[in-house]
Amino acid sequence: MLGFKLKDIILYAGVVAAVPWNNDQNEQKPLNLPLSGKQNPSNRGHSRQPNIVFILTDDQDIEMRSLDYLPFVQKHLLNKGTLFRNHFVTTALCCPSRVSLWTGRHSHNTNVTDVNPPYGGYPKFVSQGFNENFLPVWLQQAGYNTYYTGKLFNAHTTQNYNNPHVKGFTASDFLLDPWTYNYLNPAYQRNHEPPILYKGQHTIDILIDKANSLLDDAIASEKPFFLGIAPVAPHSNVEGDISDISDLYKIKFSEPIPLKRHAHLFPDAKVPRTPHFNPDKPSGVNWIAERPQLNKTLVDHNDYYYRQRLRALQGVDELVDGIFKRLEENGQLDNTYIFYTSDNGFHVSQHRLNPGKECGFEDDIRVPFIVRGPGIAEGAISKAVTTHIDVAPTIFELAGIPLREDFDGLAIPLEKSQQKTKRHEHVNVEYWGFAVEEGSFGGTLFWNNTYKSLRIIGENYNLYYSVWCNNEHQLYDLTNDPYQLRNIYPGYEYHDKSITILGAPLAKVVDRLDSLLLVLKSCKGTVCVKPWEKLHPDGDVESLPDALLADFDIFYEQQESVSYSRCEAGYILDAEGPQDALSYKRHGVHWSNWV
Ligand SMILES: *[C@@H]1O[C@H](CO)[C@@H](O)[C@H](O)[C@H]1NC(C)=O
Ligand SMILES: *[C@@H]1O[C@H](CO)[C@@H](O)[C@H](O)[C@H]1NC(C)=O
Ligand SMILES: *[C@@H]1O[C@H](CO)[C@@H](O)[C@H](O)[C@H]1NC(C)=O
Repeated sequence: MLGFKLKDIILYAGVVAAVPWNNDQNEQKPLNLPLSGKQNPSNRGHSRQPNIVFILTDDQDIEMRSLDYLPFVQKHLLNKGTLFRNHFVTTALCCPSRVSLWTGRHSHNTNVTDVNPPYGGYPKFVSQGFNENFLPVWLQQAGYNTYYTGKLFNAHTTQNYNNPHVKGFTASDFLLDPWTYNYLNPAYQRNHEPPILYKGQHTIDILIDKANSLLDDAIASEKPFFLGIAPVAPHSNVEGDISDISDLYKIKFSEPIPLKRHAHLFPDAKVPRTPHFNPDKPSGVNWIAERPQLNKTLVDHNDYYYRQRLRALQGVDELVDGIFKRLEENGQLDNTYIFYTSDNGFHVSQHRLNPGKECGFEDDIRVPFIVRGPGIAEGAISKAVTTHIDVAPTIFELAGIPLREDFDGLAIPLEKSQQKTKRHEHVNVEYWGFAVEEGSFGGTLFWNNTYKSLRIIGENYNLYYSVWCNNEHQLYDLTNDPYQLRNIYPGYEYHDKSITILGAPLAKVVDRLDSLLLVLKSCKGTVCVKPWEKLHPDGDVESLPDALLADFDIFYEQQESVSYSRCEAGYILDAEGPQDALSYKRHGVHWSNWV
């Protein structure tokens, strides 16, 4: 086995991850520095805008340790760059997550909340106006040449690819539905040419050729460039028209298919047997709490599914090696930032779930996020709390473009010197619609998988709070329950009146978390970055511990609670309960609605 051992790990910024990356890891005390304002966009002293290579895998986990099996990702990225160990996606589903990544907005601000119309997919991306307003377009306006190959969005099909064409790319070669996830029969579509079906050819071998040739063009252009490379691995292999929801039950999800040269690897690998692996007691709420324990057939199948994921990722690992070789041979490494991440995480047998994503558990929302480039610490692990919403602002900052007002995130502190900036503690997680079981025993849809959640990590606290569309609640204290098996929300099995968090009774903590979620679930722009300022315009509250001051007890008790009036499959405002939070006025007579 290819164990990843970081001997000289540099740990900096932020707080302890829920599940340590490895056992050798020494925890570092968080820095407690003043909250700074917006970071200044700057070109960081480069003579030219830097190049950006962005590798985006599909459904790759970090919690099941997929990075342990990728020697070239270790060599070129983990050992030479920084892993952001507290990096989260805000919607654990391919298309919404990708749209958020490339627009810098939460799903509730893109309203691309699903993989297919009417709530999502490429047509919804277009109808929301984002084809004229997303990262590659903005980068071109800033002088970049832009390239992309692989999967861009779902429901981007052999029928609609030219109606309209994707904008913003100097050259592109997209995977198209219904063949996107068909590992051995992919359809790629280059520039404005018609799609080509590569019958019997493996999608990753084709992608490697295309990525290399786009990189050659990019380097030859002698302009700063952005290159996005989005392999489908380790997503399930899918046969059937995934863009036709009426047909969803006919779609066959099966194990990912590795390249022949990798099919024999890791014969003994199994899903890590963590405490939340197929537990004896059900966990979660709503449909998750009703899942029966997996029988031996399913456990064995899911282990096989897991091995196929690791094998399918080997092609991605080779792709990574090839890209680094080319950058190096062409003298580009010194002026290129390379990002490696996934659109969402994945679970296999955790919480009794068959393979899938779409849940709010760590497995699904926490993803690998590694960045290498000039000034970025080598072999380091950052614990800053970061999300995919922060990626567009980060790239803007690297390119020296002034940040947009409609960005919901904050540039990620890539360099160690930037760690002096204290970041916020929260992640706003949201989901609409159904979850689906994948794999050979999959196909079942679970509706009413609509929820809003708050992930919050700071010194001495590490919590997940969630409100579902049927008004069930979850609260996990990951300090004591890192695998999210004990729901301590009042009224649930593991609730106990004597529980305290940060020295405060649970009820007070719940009031604060709920109000913070109330702000975040409909936030826009800077409110998403500094949500406490909406609750406390005086600016004296910047974090959960600040908000726990007894002076604020009555204020928080009187806030409306996050709730839903019904379950919807999309972002239907009038189903989503109260939208506006009251703000606290220190010397005022009453709290007023803060505009
Ligand atoms: C386990 O469950 C699956 C799915 O319900 C079923 O197809 C299979 O026959 C079961 N296996 C055993 C050994 O009971
Ligand atoms: C989903 O929730 C709605 C209420 O919002 C309910 O009528 C419906 O039965 C639920 N569906 C399932 C499959 O539980
Ligand atoms: C989001 O899109 C759906 C589908 O078009 C629409 O029904 C809904 O009203 C939109 N939501 C908001 C908040 O605009």
